[in-house]
Amino acid sequence: MKQLIKKLKIGSVELKNNLALAPMAGITNAAFRSLCIEGGAGFVVSEMVSAESIRYGNKKTLQLLELYPSEHPIAIQLFGSDPESMALAAKEAEKLGADIIDINAGCPVRKVLRSGSGAALMKEPGILEDIIKKTVKAVKIPVTVKIRSGLTAKEVISPGLAVLIEGAGASAITLHGRAAADLHSGPPDYEAFAGTAAAVKIPVFGNGGVRAAADAARILETGCAGVAIGRAAAGNPAVFAEVAEGLGGGGMLPYSSPFTGEGEGGGTAHNVTRSPAEKIKLFMRFLELNAALYGPESGVVRARKLVGYWLKGFPHSSALRASFMAARALPEANALLLQYLSNSKK
Ligand SMILES: Cc1cc2nc3c(=O)[nH]c(=O)nc-3n(C[C@H](O)[C@H](O)[C@H](O)COP(=O)(O)O)c2cc1C
Repeated sequence: MKQLIKKLKIGSVELKNNLALAPMAGITNAAFRSLCIEGGAGFVVSEMVSAESIRYGNKKTLQLLELYPSEHPIAIQLFGSDPESMALAAKEAEKLGADIIDINAGCPVRKVLRSGSGAALMKEPGILEDIIKKTVKAVKIPVTVKIRSGLTAKEVISPGLAVLIEGAGASAITLHGRAAADLHSGPPDYEAFAGTAAAVKIPVFGNGGVRAAADAARILETGCAGVAIGRAAAGNPAVFAEVAEGLGGGGMLPYSSPFTGEGEGGGTAHNVTRSPAEKIKLFMRFLELNAALYGPESGVVRARKLVGYWLKGFPHSSALRASFMAARALPEANALLLQYLSNSKK
């Protein structure tokens, strides 16, 4: 059988495997990304960051660029429509330690589209090309681009766009295999993955709906070099290790605490399925890292966005989720989670 999990290079950046964390605004912050690297991701991507805000030194935006040493390789994703601003922002991100710059050409959110950024760039290939060329010229690190299969499902334009993106100097492409009009729902378009991967020599990461090894295999079998995982990682940063294991390549992943040795899930690199108790413990670790990043109150409030993903499928999770939404600081949140753990053992 073809080896689907493999090492990969994006430009000069070597990846331990071909599984990436997809960028998610409000979710893929430094704390979360560190856990995903630990959980087996080949590389991680930041939340999208506005190039204009970087240019004008917006404090909150600059905070998004603070990186932990434990989260490399990391791509900082930029959105914007002005080639000069994108190039300047890329330089700044490179200075702050990014390994890769990712250009967002796939976001379908109205506010982003109205500014001519995100998926709007798919309608303006000339501007997209200029952005890529200027960004590539501005930095020494590789530049990648994230696109959709098309603006609507009726018209798949990703193969042609991929050729333009490669020609402009990008080192990889992430293809979210759904049309912009379909937002995040429905199955991805496997023909779009195949057509796009075949159109270029640079690696194409297929993205959309990967929850387990079988989903990843289906994308990799179209010819994509790698896969990017979004929502399935939001509730389980160990999903990368699970997918790698399911594809028969788990042994090549290095693991460290808390993914080894603890809990009833096992404890070797070859037994990575998480029990609810392990997931709760991991979530507590995420809260701790988030509190270190934002402070003990804001860290907990900001984690509300993730708790639904994290507790999916747990017994009595809706009550726990509701109490968590009301928690205002770290000790309170930890107490709730510990209580839940102790009740579930009874
Ligand atoms: C809450 C949320 C925020 C997202 N933010 C971004 C973003 O900042 N940049 C981007 O390119 N895509 C963003 N996406 C899209 C994801 O990167 C990914 O393409 C999408 O979720 C499909 O992958 P999945 O089916 O594995 O979740 C976001 C998706 C979600 C659910």
